[in-house]
Amino acid sequence: MPADSTQPTKALADFFPNQRKNLPIALTTEDVKGKTYIVTGATGGIGYELAKHLVRLEASKVIIGARNEERGKATKATIEGDAGRKDVVDIWPLDLASYDSVKAFGKRIETAERIDALVLNAGVSHAGWQVKEGNEAHLTVNFISNYLLAFMALPHLQAVGKTHGITPRLVVVGSMGAFFAGESVKKFPSKDILDDLNDRAKWESDFTNRYSVTKLLEHWAARQLASLRPVSDLGVIVNVVDPGYCKTGLNKELSLWTRAKAWLAKVMLGRTPEMGSRTLVHAVKVGEESHGKYLTSCEIREDHIPEWVTNEAGQAVQKQVWDELLVKLDKIEPGLPSRVIADWA
Ligand SMILES: NC(=O)c1ccc[n+]([C@@H]2O[C@H](COP(=O)([O-])OP(=O)(O)OC[C@H]3O[C@@H](n4cnc5c(N)ncnc54)[C@H](OP(=O)(O)O)[C@@H]3O)[C@@H](O)[C@H]2O)c1
Repeated sequence: MPADSTQPTKALADFFPNQRKNLPIALTTEDVKGKTYIVTGATGGIGYELAKHLVRLEASKVIIGARNEERGKATKATIEGDAGRKDVVDIWPLDLASYDSVKAFGKRIETAERIDALVLNAGVSHAGWQVKEGNEAHLTVNFISNYLLAFMALPHLQAVGKTHGITPRLVVVGSMGAFFAGESVKKFPSKDILDDLNDRAKWESDFTNRYSVTKLLEHWAARQLASLRPVSDLGVIVNVVDPGYCKTGLNKELSLWTRAKAWLAKVMLGRTPEMGSRTLVHAVKVGEESHGKYLTSCEIREDHIPEWVTNEAGQAVQKQVWDELLVKLDKIEPGLPSRVIADWA
C-alpha cells in the first residue's frame, strides 16, 4: 500500500516554472540524418510534432502508426510538404484498441531494416466506461496494447541494434498524471489487479482517475522491464517521458465542463504540442543513463516520482502488475513473453 501522502509534491512544485520553460531541441541533423524512427499516434498532438522534427532533421524514414487511414495520408502530406521532402514518412495501420491490429503492426516492424527509436506515444483519455478487447478501454489502449507492441518489437530492436552497432530507444510516453493515481492504488487488491480494474461496479465512480491509473501501469512496467536487464544485456534503452501539460486533442472526448476547465488551464500554462514534443526529442536522444528512468522537461527527474511509487510496497505492486501483464500477453499472443524474456530472472 502506498504511504498516506500520495501527492507528487516535488513534481508539483516544479510544474509551474517548468511549463513556462523554453525547452531545447536535443537532436540535431547530425544525430538524425539517415536514421529510422517509429512513432505511434502521430496524426496529431505531440507525436505529430515529434515526427515533424525528425523529418525536418533529415531522418531517412519516419514510420507512423495511425488508426485512421485518411488522417494518416493527410499527416504524411503535411509533414513531407512542410519539410520539402518526399518518401520519408510511411503510414502503417495501427489501432491500439484491437490486438489483431497491434500484432500486425508488430509483425511489420520485423521488416524494418533499421530502427533507431520506437516511440510509444499513442494514448487516449475517454469520458466514460468502454470495453475494448474484453478490458476497460484505457487499460487496453494505454497499457496492454502498448506493451504487446513493445514485446513484439523488442527482439527486432535488439537484432537491428547488433546489425548496425546502435542502441535503439524504446520511449514510453507516460505522464506526470500517473503520480496522482495514489488513492486508486490504495484500492488495488494484492493480486489480480488487472482483472480487478475491469470491475465496473467497483471502479466506475473513480473513473476520473482511470487515465492516470493506466499511465502509472505503463510507467511501472517500463521500470520493471529496465530493472530486469541493464542496457548492456538488453541492447535497448527504455525510458518514460512526461511531455508536460500540452494543448492537444487528448481531452476531446471529455465532458464540456471538464474541457472548459482544461481549456482555461491550458490557456494559462499549457505548452504548445511542439514544445511538448521537445521532451520526446530529448527522450530519443538521451543515453544509457535514462534506462528505466522518468524524464520531464528534458531532464531525468527521478526525484519527481512520489515515494509510494518506488518504495518497497510500490515495487511489490510494480512486480505484481508486470507478472499479470505477462499472463495477459501470453493469452493474446501465446508464447510471446517467454520468447522475449526467456532467460530473464
Ligand atoms: N496533452 C497532454 O497534456 C499530455 C500530458 C501528459 C501525457 N500525454 C501523453 O502524450 C501522448 C500523446 O497525447 P496527445 O496529447 O498528443 O493527444 P492527442 O492529440 O489526442 O493525440 C493522440 C494520438 O494517439 C492516437 N490514438 C488514439 N487512440 C488510438 C488508438 N486506439 N490506436 C492508435 N492510435 C491512437 C491519435 O490518433 P487519432 O488522430 O486517430 O485520434 C493521435 O494521433 C499520450 O500518450 C498522452 O497520454 C499528454
